[in-house]
Amino acid sequence: MKLSVIGAGYVGLTTAACLAQIGHDVFCSESDVEKLAKLQSGIMPFFEPNLEDVIKGVCNAGRLTFGSTEEAIAWGTVIFICVGTPPLANGDADLSSIENAARTIAKRASGYRLVIEKSTVPVQTGSQLRKYLAANRTNGLKYDVASNPEFLREGSSVEDFLHPERIVVGVDSPSAEEILREIYQPVISQSFTCPIHPNCAKRNEPVFLVTDTGSAELIKHASNSFLAMKISFINMVANLCETVGADVTKVAQGMGLDSRIGPSFLNPGIGFGGFCFPKDVQAFIRIAEKAGCDFALLREVEKINQGRIGHLVEKVRNELWVIRGKKIAVWGLAFKPNTDDVRFAPSIALIESLLSEGAKVSAYDPEAMDKAKAVLPNITYCSDPYKAAEGTEAIVVVTEWDEFRRIAWTRIKSVIERPLIIDGRNMLDAKVVADQGFQYVSVGRPSVIPAEARSAEREGPVLAAQDQTAGAMAD
Ligand code: UDX
Repeated sequence: MKLSVIGAGYVGLTTAACLAQIGHDVFCSESDVEKLAKLQSGIMPFFEPNLEDVIKGVCNAGRLTFGSTEEAIAWGTVIFICVGTPPLANGDADLSSIENAARTIAKRASGYRLVIEKSTVPVQTGSQLRKYLAANRTNGLKYDVASNPEFLREGSSVEDFLHPERIVVGVDSPSAEEILREIYQPVISQSFTCPIHPNCAKRNEPVFLVTDTGSAELIKHASNSFLAMKISFINMVANLCETVGADVTKVAQGMGLDSRIGPSFLNPGIGFGGFCFPKDVQAFIRIAEKAGCDFALLREVEKINQGRIGHLVEKVRNELWVIRGKKIAVWGLAFKPNTDDVRFAPSIALIESLLSEGAKVSAYDPEAMDKAKAVLPNITYCSDPYKAAEGTEAIVVVTEWDEFRRIAWTRIKSVIERPLIIDGRNMLDAKVVADQGFQYVSVGRPSVIPAEARSAEREGPVLAAQDQTAGAMAD
């Protein structure tokens, strides 16, 4: 089928590439002319595993073209709207890009169009879209509007598109449902050539869930808000574990063995970031408020998450005492591993807080440093974790990049000022780093002090006691 995609961001580009991968002829538009020029010359605007290979393959096969919104609207009878819906200051989703796309469709499209909202939008946006098209259409446009929310995780978005657990479509007509079934048939039957697992056996077939438009829109916000709630819940439990000396990793493990809870999204740490959870929770709270429902629960989810930054800064302070003037290394800037995205990343808020207290910060991230430089110009960017650690009094792990599991700790030991690791993602093996002589502080678990420091500590209080005695005698 000839399909059009408006917007070539994290969602739009993956959607366009994967729709082409499963056999459709796709035209993808991007309003940012610089980004469009990059795409037309085969340059990726962001890092996403597997996506560049998929795009190269489908562009070479002539099944994916990039151009303007007007060209996209003229291209196919099905239009996926994948534009950004960032948060406004009051937490509402900014729908101006959605309206711009609708305006161009109303003005330029003739004949039938199925307009599909894939961007994350507040419930009832679909009915607003219908009203808008009815009021502004020209050229005899006939249309249906459908909701097809995305459940793509950055870092695995190609996998999530091609091998989803569910495909949700909110439709207002049988014809719209039929068109969407036809579009997704290769994914429903898992009968396409998979670019990630070439010889992958028949993967689990996803559930193709058909609802009304509003319910489909709500499934997206409710799903993300529930996942965010799980994270804030385990972070709240982690705080309690710290005060009672329990181990949150064990608590999460025990909880996760209950199939009704499940082990995923129970990783405590510095909290959730990214362009989805923070804004989707805010938007859901606002959507509910405007509908007269008080989502106090989600305000707490947000509050707990915002508190994670201060909680981690306190851990730094507890160990360093004075932060001013201290050199601190931050390992990881992206909001999660396997992406270069720093939007709403906890690293940004943490570093800004450390800088405001006079710390000197050196940072390393395998992918996200270019994007971070735009928002954090006044820190030192290093080409590897060892350079970032040079002369530091603390290393703070903020993103659980796999390479941090393979650090040569003896090499780190030789360049640091103080052997202190503060693991904001509980990703390191406490015993390994303690055996290498590091003090290891993490989230929701007791700190681990290396053997030699323990003996020094034992001498320390004794020494201090002798000092005190000496002091008393001298007085
Ligand atoms: C999320 C949803 O998972 C996805 O379904 C939706 O389509 C878009 O939003 P994404 O934001 O890409 O995907 O990343 P995700 O893997 O969900 O992580 C979001 C944030 O939560 C990250 O900052 C991550 O570090 C954090 N997180 C995740 C935790 O702190 N603990 C966890 O256990 C899991």
